[in-house]
Amino acid sequence: MVRSRRAAFGALVAAALISASIANAAEDCGESDGDWHAGSAIYHQTCVACHGEDGHGVRAGVPDFTTGVMAYSAGSLSRHIENGFQVPGRPLAMPPKGNNPALTDEDIRNVLAYLHHAFGCG
Ligand code: HEC
Repeated sequence: MVRSRRAAFGALVAAALISASIANAAEDCGESDGDWHAGSAIYHQTCVACHGEDGHGVRAGVPDFTTGVMAYSAGSLSRHIENGFQVPGRPLAMPPKGNNPALTDEDIRNVLAYLHHAFGCG
């Protein structure tokens, strides 16, 4: 009896540790210290038209955030969000700040935190 209780407790602790580390991985992977709640509002105002609610991208040339993109470093992703970019030969450009010049550095940190929160680490 004591033995099986101990085993059950051990299993519980193991499960808690595993779920805690998964939760941390989802939020820490991008080295972003932003506030994902604030970032969610920005995403849904400025980015969702092209990137979609599910991050898959709504038209040709828009990358799928769930298949590797989020593995790039936070520095590189932030620069691409801030300045825009277009890989030569691709059909569509990422516009600087998603066409919303009012976005601040803090907004960009926050939206990046949301991307990692919602779409993982790549
Ligand atoms: C007008 C459509 C459009 C809007 C609006 C838009 N994007 Fe993009 N985004 C793109 C396209 C197209 C690419 C890919 C460009 C390429 O690969 O050449 C892209 C790429 C990206 C990438 C990948 C960066 C990388 O390094 O590969 C991130 C991250 C991103 N966008 C974030 C955002 C965020 C955050 C917003 C809102 C603030 C936003 N985008 C708004 C079209 C858009």
